[in-house]
Amino acid sequence: MSQISQAALSALRSAHPTIAIDGPSGSGKSTVARGLAALLHGDYVDTGATYRAMTWWLLGCAVDVTSQDVIAEHADQPMIELGIDPSSPAVWVDAQDVTLAIRTEEVSNAVSQVAAVPAVRRRMVALQRAYAETAEAQHRAVVMEGRDIASVVLPGADVKIWLTADIDARAARRAAQDSVLLGSAAQVNDVARDLANRDEADSMRETTPVRVNPESAIVDATHLNVEQTINAVLRIALEQMGLPHE
Ligand code: DC
Repeated sequence: MSQISQAALSALRSAHPTIAIDGPSGSGKSTVARGLAALLHGDYVDTGATYRAMTWWLLGCAVDVTSQDVIAEHADQPMIELGIDPSSPAVWVDAQDVTLAIRTEEVSNAVSQVAAVPAVRRRMVALQRAYAETAEAQHRAVVMEGRDIASVVLPGADVKIWLTADIDARAARRAAQDSVLLGSAAQVNDVARDLANRDEADSMRETTPVRVNPESAIVDATHLNVEQTINAVLRIALEQMGLPHE
């Protein structure tokens, strides 16, 4: 597939689009969303990080994360902020930098239960929308990644993508990412099992179960590298916005 032209990229930049990238863990969403936001000189919003930040805070307060009611009672307490620069995304809880702390196995294992609580989702969705509103008001593109961006958070997004890859490719990516971020060398098989369990929990929950949005264009990144995936997403973005490729 040929690269899109500089003229097409400039046209997309000038349109400062709102781009929703949804998909399962390990599909390469973060790398692609960050790369895209950087190319468009826009903001990057990692919505999974908001659920992880809430989970990190609940675990730190020894809140029983197996009880939806108990989680809901605490859902409005921590102040969660995101750093939206795609070259250095960050997460703060009550002004403490938790960018790395939210990636631990302990948080990963508990986050599905927390993200299933309606009171948590209401608060996180409001927070996520506020970042998109700020970008729009300041005439910047925004690339938001998650699971329900196209369907719930930003149903009016200009561009809607579902990024996926097969489970082995996703597990290999996630294991490589964790070994860089956390210094741990998890077995790819173990990561694949954890991902499959989390996918199952996220798709079975009652509140906003994870589903492919029918309006989103599907990009399968199993056999694509980062550059090829970003190129595929840029093409779809131009198409969905009615802008020429050349
Ligand atoms: O993308 P991630 O692995 O950081 O997501 C962490 C968890 O949060 C995962 O269980 C799915 C959930 N999530 C969600 O329910 N809705 C989103 N918009 C983003 C993530």
